[in-house]
Amino acid sequence: MNAIEVNELTKIYKGGRSKIEVKALNNFSLSISKGEIFGLLGPNGAGKTTLIKTLLGIVFPTTGSATILGSDISNYKIKNRIGFLPENHRFPNYLTAEETLKYFSQLGGNSTKNIDKRIDELLLLVRMSEWKKMKVSKYSKGMMQRLGLAQAMMNNPELIFLDEPTDGVDPIGRKEIRDILIDLKNNGTTIFLNSHLLSEVELVSDRVAIMNSGKLLKVGRVEDLTTTKEAYIIETANPIDSDFVNAKYMNTPSANTSFKNINVKLESSTKLSVNVKDNLELNFVIDNLRKNGINIKTISIQKNSLEELFVSLITDERGGTK
Ligand SMILES: Nc1ncnc2c1ncn2[C@@H]1O[C@H](COP(=O)(O)OP(=O)(O)O)[C@@H](O)[C@H]1O
Ligand SMILES: [Mg+2]
Repeated sequence: MNAIEVNELTKIYKGGRSKIEVKALNNFSLSISKGEIFGLLGPNGAGKTTLIKTLLGIVFPTTGSATILGSDISNYKIKNRIGFLPENHRFPNYLTAEETLKYFSQLGGNSTKNIDKRIDELLLLVRMSEWKKMKVSKYSKGMMQRLGLAQAMMNNPELIFLDEPTDGVDPIGRKEIRDILIDLKNNGTTIFLNSHLLSEVELVSDRVAIMNSGKLLKVGRVEDLTTTKEAYIIETANPIDSDFVNAKYMNTPSANTSFKNINVKLESSTKLSVNVKDNLELNFVIDNLRKNGINIKTISIQKNSLEELFVSLITDERGGTK
């Protein structure tokens, strides 16, 4: 059973007085396994928060369906197995960390038995023990987010939704939040994370999805999305002559018409980027380099950053204008 199953969800917000309709989710489908950290990426307004709110039953889908932890999203009984950190959350300023956790736990219907022990455990986990008795009004954004994480974990959820958990948090605070998420995952919690901050998500997620204008554009492991299988970088110990590359490798020798996809480009005097169709073509290039006295140092698969993929997908969506 998957932790989350989304089947062709569409959400249309009907504008109040303006009568403008916004399709925040457009036939959106997705599956998330138990125990993974899943990162949903997209620019502001892509529909990320709407997806979380729909899964939590805060907004209702226009069409389509979804399950969480095996139950339909309309089943309110599963709510006590879920944690949620909303985007831009605010806690009452006059409460301390301890009081905040107590208050939200009781709102969630938890019994007060063992509550003090749980609060201490969680404050330790989010590195907030020393601020237990300090009022929330004195907290930095990073401390607020860490307390928010503790709040979301209060009832030991199997699945936790975090909407922009690191937004507005400085680099050290972000690293602390990432470490907490990894601790949580190691304890078996499934984490669904929304963010417009790519590097954050890239560093922590097992899989990511990229969405824009309510649509899913790409989903997969970060490793797979950023690897271009047919592109390699060859680094050499001795310099390569550019004329030599142009003459011999830019175009496949006509004598061998089966190698028609080879494209070699000199990136620097000792670095070539090579595009090929398969291993045979790659080996053809290697053989030719070696035959011509080039000493190969390394061959590696060319990688694109998640940011490059994100920008190119969103740019295509917007009709090619950046
Ligand atoms: N309650 C609402 N009523 C009308 N439009 C909304 C409402 N909430 C969000 N939207 C619109 O839906 C789209 C998606 O918003 P949202 O889900 O908040 O995106 P994200 O979280 O990716 O920034 C945006 O165009 C936003 O303006
Ligand atoms: Mg949002």
